[in-house]
Amino acid sequence: MTEIYSTSVGTFDSLVSRKVNAIPPSGIRKFFDLLSSVEGVISLGVGEPDFVTPWHIREAARYSLEKGYTMYTSNYGLLKLRQGLAKYLELHYGLVYRPESEILITVGVSEGLDIALRAILNPGDEVIIPDPCYVAYPSDIILAGGVPISIPTYEENNFVIKARDIEAQITKQTKVILIGYPANPTGAVMPKEELGEVAELARKYNLLVISDEIYARLIYGTDHTCFASLPGMKEQTILLGGFSKSYAMTGWRIAYIAANQQLLAAMTKIHQYTMLSAPTIAQMAAIEALENGEGEIQRMVQEYDRRRRIIVKRLSEIGLSCFEPKGAFYAFPSIKATGMTSEEFAEKLLVEEKVAVVPGSAFGEHGEGFIRCCYATSLANIEEALSRMGRFLKKNR
Ligand SMILES: Cc1ncc(COP(=O)(O)O)c(C=O)c1O
Repeated sequence: MTEIYSTSVGTFDSLVSRKVNAIPPSGIRKFFDLLSSVEGVISLGVGEPDFVTPWHIREAARYSLEKGYTMYTSNYGLLKLRQGLAKYLELHYGLVYRPESEILITVGVSEGLDIALRAILNPGDEVIIPDPCYVAYPSDIILAGGVPISIPTYEENNFVIKARDIEAQITKQTKVILIGYPANPTGAVMPKEELGEVAELARKYNLLVISDEIYARLIYGTDHTCFASLPGMKEQTILLGGFSKSYAMTGWRIAYIAANQQLLAAMTKIHQYTMLSAPTIAQMAAIEALENGEGEIQRMVQEYDRRRRIIVKRLSEIGLSCFEPKGAFYAFPSIKATGMTSEEFAEKLLVEEKVAVVPGSAFGEHGEGFIRCCYATSLANIEEALSRMGRFLKKNR
C-alpha cells in the first residue's frame, strides 16, 4: 500500500500548484471539523438558512424530473429563467438587462465569483476587498492570478468600506473593487450615499466593481441598493445574485451574473468549458421561485428579523457589545473584553459549553476580536446558545 502514497517527485506538497499551496483552507471549515467530534452542540456556525426550500419550489423540481427535463441547458441557462431574472432586476432596481446576452446562470454565486475574477484578471492585477469579508474573496482572487488588497473596516464605521480608504490603496495595478453588502460576516449594509462614493472612484479610475448581492433580500428596516443601479454603474458592475439565501436553496447550487455583454461572453467561455450549464432541475426550481416565491421570502425575512432582534438583545444582556446588523443573518459581537483571541474564544466555548460560533479571524485580520453568530436557527436554539454563552462568560471573566 505504501507505494500508492509515495512518489519519485517527493512529497505531495511539491505536486500541488503554488497558487493552491498559497491559499489557506477555509477557516470556517477547519473549525467545523472540530464540531463533528463533539456531541450535543448548538451551532450558530454555518451560514445557511434553517428553512427547507418552500414546498412549491421543490414540487416544481419534482415535476421537471417527471417531465424528463434531465439534459444540459444552453450554456447561458434556460432562457425562461434569464427572462424572469431580467424582469426581477427591472422591477426591483429599474435595471434593464438583455436576457439573451447580459445574464448568465451559474452554479452558485461561488462559481459566479470565480469566473468573474478569472475572466478579467491578468497576473498581478489588484483587487480591493473589505476586511473582514466572506472567506472566498481573497482565495478566489489568488486562484485567478490576482492580488487581494484588504481595506480594514471598523465597528465604529458600521463595518462599511470607506471610499477614502479605497482611494489611498489604488495603484496602476488596481483593476477591481469587490464588495458584498449586506455583508458576511458582519451583517453590515452599506448606505446608498457611501456606495455612490465608491461608484465615483470606479468612474474616476476606470475600475470594475464586482458586487456580491447574495443577501440583497435579507435586509431589515432599510432598503437594498443594487450597485449597478447607481448612475453610470451598470456597464462597470458585475452583479452577482443568487437563490441560496433568500429562497433557502443552498443545496440547489443556482445563481446568476448580470453584466455587460462582452464581459459576460468572456465569463461564459470559462463557464462553458468548466460547467457546461447549471443543473437543469435547479434552474426549473428557480423559475418557480421567481414566479411564486415572494410570499415565502417575506415570511422568512420576518422570522430572521425577529431572531435578529432577540440575539442582539441577548448578546448585550450577557455582556457582549454587538453592532446592529441590518442584513444577512449574522451577528458579529466583540469579544475583546474577554482578552481571548477569537479562535481561543470559539474553541473554548465549543469545548466548555458546546456552542459553535466562527472566530472573526477566519474572515480576515480585522475580524480578530469578534465572533460570527449565525441566527438562521430556531429561537429555542438561539435562547439556549445565549444562556450557555452567558454562563461561559461568567466563568471566564
Ligand atoms: C457573501 C457570500 N457570497 C457568496 C456565497 C456563496 O453562495 P452560493 O451558495 O450561491 O455559492 C456565500 C455563502 O455563504 C456568501 O456568504
